[in-house]
Amino acid sequence: MAEILKGMGGMMRRVKVTVVGAGNVGGSIAQRLAEKNCYDIVLVDIVEGMPQGKALDLVEAGPVCSYDSAVTGANTYEATKDSDIIVITSGIPRRPGMSRDELLETNTKIVSSVVQETAKRSPEAILIIVSNPLDVMTYVAHRVSGFPRSRVLGMAGVLDSARFRSFIAEALQVSVENIHAMVLGGHGDSMVPLIRYTTVAGRPIDEWFSPEKLEALIKRTREGGAEIVNLLKTGSAYYAPAASVVEMVEAISKDQKKILPCATLCEGEYGFDGLVLGVPVKLGSGGAEAIVEYALTVEEKAALENSAQVVRDLCELVNQMSIKMD
Ligand code: NAI
Ligand code: 2OP
Repeated sequence: MAEILKGMGGMMRRVKVTVVGAGNVGGSIAQRLAEKNCYDIVLVDIVEGMPQGKALDLVEAGPVCSYDSAVTGANTYEATKDSDIIVITSGIPRRPGMSRDELLETNTKIVSSVVQETAKRSPEAILIIVSNPLDVMTYVAHRVSGFPRSRVLGMAGVLDSARFRSFIAEALQVSVENIHAMVLGGHGDSMVPLIRYTTVAGRPIDEWFSPEKLEALIKRTREGGAEIVNLLKTGSAYYAPAASVVEMVEAISKDQKKILPCATLCEGEYGFDGLVLGVPVKLGSGGAEAIVEYALTVEEKAALENSAQVVRDLCELVNQMSIKMD
């Protein structure tokens, strides 16, 4: 991946990113990436004409927005060959009253088949999974691809942390840039905002809010996805999810070594072995180059274990389904 930006004969080679699922999240990711002007993007979807139409529309925006990014749409996988990064957003989203877990069976089938198609054409790619239920779909992608854990990541922690940061900023009327937060665990109601490591301009968050107010902010963060589903009524959030994916893509393609919460396979870290969970990850050209371990209190460990159990139970259900994953 370090070679990506060098290219041949001194020319900059653009990073090739495939986005599977050209719906709300996938389309927004493609737009944000195109506007960076350093990616070539392939959009794949099963709906005939739709990825081609969105790709053409994005190319036609290039002269206005000053980018030369190539954007290609397809209903098959030939054009995805030798992608550097593959983002998987294909699947069904939540509707009001639905939990992320209700998407399990349908999205397991979709993600399995998409990973099979993409991984064999781009065996060196880094996968970023978005489809829900996120941690379990990342586990499925890991099993189906056979890729090392460093090259299979799930996006959720960046989004959940961004939501937490935006609610804190709104409550204090300060810039979001002053707020650092890390939300770990599974992408669900049991996610774990690490309060002791959440700061406003370097000052611990519990010095800014009463315990009751802080609890309300945590609750809103945990329910942040549902809040938007209930407003939209026909689907789930996509602007902030797309922005979160793009932060991960940039960290990888620019070898930024940025520490972000990502779903990744733990192999002993935080006491979890063989479980995909949101943990702080150093993201660079090698993908998840390291998992950063924070010292946790007994209560924090218990909260993470509680969240892990939800993911474990769903992985168990997936293992019992008659879907071929190896
Ligand atoms: P959407 O319905 O707008 O787009 C999904 C697209 O996937 C559709 O265009 C559909 O035709 C396509 N698709 C379905 N099966 C396919 C297949 N086999 N191959 C290729 N494409 C296929 O949904 P949206 O809002 O873009 O959400 C996508 C997924 O991302 C959902 O599962 C949603 O729950 C999840 N999500 C996860 C977030 C996270 O934080 N991890 C945040 C937001 C959404
Ligand atoms: C979200 O958190 C639905 O997982 C998606 O918005």
